[in-house]
Amino acid sequence: MTALEDAFRAISADALNMVKDGQVIGLGSGRAAAVLVRELASRARSERMNITGVPTSLQIRLVAEECGISLRDPGDTDKIDIVFDGADQVDRQGNLIKGGGGALLTESILIGMADKVVIIADESKFAEHLDAPVPVEVHPAARRSAAESVMRLGGKPVLRLLDRGFPLFTENRNLVLDCSFGTITDPSTLRDKLTDIPGVAEAGIITRRPDTTYRAKTDGGFDAI
Ligand code: A5P
Repeated sequence: MTALEDAFRAISADALNMVKDGQVIGLGSGRAAAVLVRELASRARSERMNITGVPTSLQIRLVAEECGISLRDPGDTDKIDIVFDGADQVDRQGNLIKGGGGALLTESILIGMADKVVIIADESKFAEHLDAPVPVEVHPAARRSAAESVMRLGGKPVLRLLDRGFPLFTENRNLVLDCSFGTITDPSTLRDKLTDIPGVAEAGIITRRPDTTYRAKTDGGFDAI
């Protein structure tokens, strides 16, 4: 196990103190979320807590199923007590870039729905301002028109491809444009402009400030903001 995985496990142990019996827990996607989900399953078992997980992607559903967490589809709940998720970038104000795994639409829905949002990211993801490419999920029919609109906003869109040049399709059968804007000084306005583009299902900028943000360190330690 790497020192970073140690840090994710230590963070999970701390973050799971927030979870109470009977709660509905949003399960984010990615590596940090996967560590937390495994720890959640073992905590629920050892403390005999009845927990329902709501997965944001098939990736995390597979992890949760393997651990025996009982699950509910996102569309079958209007209540999430806490969502635990990772992030691709975190700025000083707590704005996030998400969608590195292509699960941005459901992640955004759960973050919007949750009473409490907890983010876990390694220290390389923290920056003064967001400047990583913004994943933008677009309907295939808007592949060209949405890319044109992104360019008019000053962005450089790149269609996300898998190995051997095949385009990535999200779980919603959409495409992802990874859009570079340089330094993003006004994430909220950029998010609004991107989500206004016809055919855009979601933009991977989250402006809801997390209730807790954990920073995993490469020496195995962590801190919380
Ligand atoms: C999934 O679409 C993403 O938003 C992930 O939450 C994000 O990429 C963080 O993943 P890692 O924890 O694997 O870095």
